[in-house]
Amino acid sequence: MTVEHDVRALDLAPGGRYRIEWAEQDMPVLRQIRERFAQEKPLKGIRISACLHVTTETANLVHTLQAGGADVVLTASNPLSTQDDVAAALVTQYEIPVYAIKGEDTQTYYDHIKRALDHKPHITMDDGADLVSEIHKNRRELLDGILGGTEETTTGVIRLRAMAADGALGFPVIAVNDSMTKHMFDNRYGTGQSTIDGIVRATNVLLAGRTVVVAGYGWCSRGIANRARGMGANVIVTEVDPLKALEAVMDGFRVMPMDEAAPIGDLFVTATGDINVIDRQHFAVMKNGAIMCNSGHFNVEINIPALQAMATGKPRLIRPFVEQFTMPDGRKLHLLGEGRLINLAAAEGHPASVMDMSFANQALAAEFMIQNHDKLQNQVYTVPEELDMKIARLKLEAMGVRIDTLTEEQFRYLNQWQEGT
Ligand SMILES: NC(=O)c1ccc[n+]([C@@H]2O[C@H](COP(=O)([O-])OP(=O)(O)OC[C@H]3O[C@@H](n4cnc5c(N)ncnc54)[C@H](O)[C@@H]3O)[C@@H](O)[C@H]2O)c1
Repeated sequence: MTVEHDVRALDLAPGGRYRIEWAEQDMPVLRQIRERFAQEKPLKGIRISACLHVTTETANLVHTLQAGGADVVLTASNPLSTQDDVAAALVTQYEIPVYAIKGEDTQTYYDHIKRALDHKPHITMDDGADLVSEIHKNRRELLDGILGGTEETTTGVIRLRAMAADGALGFPVIAVNDSMTKHMFDNRYGTGQSTIDGIVRATNVLLAGRTVVVAGYGWCSRGIANRARGMGANVIVTEVDPLKALEAVMDGFRVMPMDEAAPIGDLFVTATGDINVIDRQHFAVMKNGAIMCNSGHFNVEINIPALQAMATGKPRLIRPFVEQFTMPDGRKLHLLGEGRLINLAAAEGHPASVMDMSFANQALAAEFMIQNHDKLQNQVYTVPEELDMKIARLKLEAMGVRIDTLTEEQFRYLNQWQEGT
């Protein structure tokens, strides 16, 4: 009998399964954790509701949790990020209930979240805090049964910290994003590469010689800026944080306000976690043919309602994931992937090799939460540093990279104050 689900089509499963196996080859750390979980069953009897991008890498995480004895259901964390073949394979091959269809409308997205919560989770696993938010707003009866949660991304962590500061958070949550083996690699190298991948798949434009404006110089945006430069683009960075702006300047980028960048950019990419970073006054001065996209968590970084209101008529879908808006003066402006995370909308999200570390953190965070929930307050915690370092060590080992170890003399030297000049 097939487990409960709402996916595009179950007959897509064979292709999804091959792709899940392909990703697994590049996830050696998660594989090691899965092997241990299969023996020790640390998640036995634990119900997990996961709200994550339904990709090949997530399939490997969910499979790992299942190997650890958890009873997992999965729902999408974005209406456009689901890989329908993976969703089908999880249902038929791995017997995981999945509620996710690429391109689902907002109503369906929330219906799916609701169904994932009907699972009555002990642990929530979020990417953007939509599960936690829905529980606190509409499903408070579930709070008593929840031991804790984990959160994957920067925007989710910001939302959770705001809840904790308000005294509104009803259970402890581990901010997986704050692990160094997560944001230093996933956000920077993963988002950097996959955002360029999404832009190129959606548009097939040449980046060499193009003026690319990157909003932000945080973990994701610095990855994007550096990858775009590597492809030969002239990259401009916009920032609001003086330190980050200074870093961008000293890394060799032109830095200026968006008002100045708007009329000279050919391609605009936002990844700030902020709202209306590209707004009405920028659309008014952009070049004919300008392209805009977002890789931040929510589709609010480009003011899409203002763009729609300024344009004449309805946008034309000139290619898949490319909407063309015509301004009253005849300029054509382009929006990719409805302003949603372009790397997941038009490409496949991060490569498995970085998700290996992110999801190793997720699996170990779930185990840690089960073992320690009774000692934690209703606050946001980070993954313990020793687990973070263990993941880094395992990753290096898997890559065949060896490093030095401190000698006793060096250890003593680095921990004393007496010896100087
Ligand atoms: N696409 C993906 O797959 C993916 C992966 C990881 C994170 N994210 C999301 O990307 C976003 C950024 O995450 P991060 O880890 O890079 O965060 P971060 O905090 O490291 O960086 C955000 C940067 O944006 C800057 N900023 C804020 N408002 C700005 C504005 N108006 N103009 C210019 N710069 C501005 C901040 O000063 C900061 O330096 C979040 O929404 C996060 O959830 C997406």
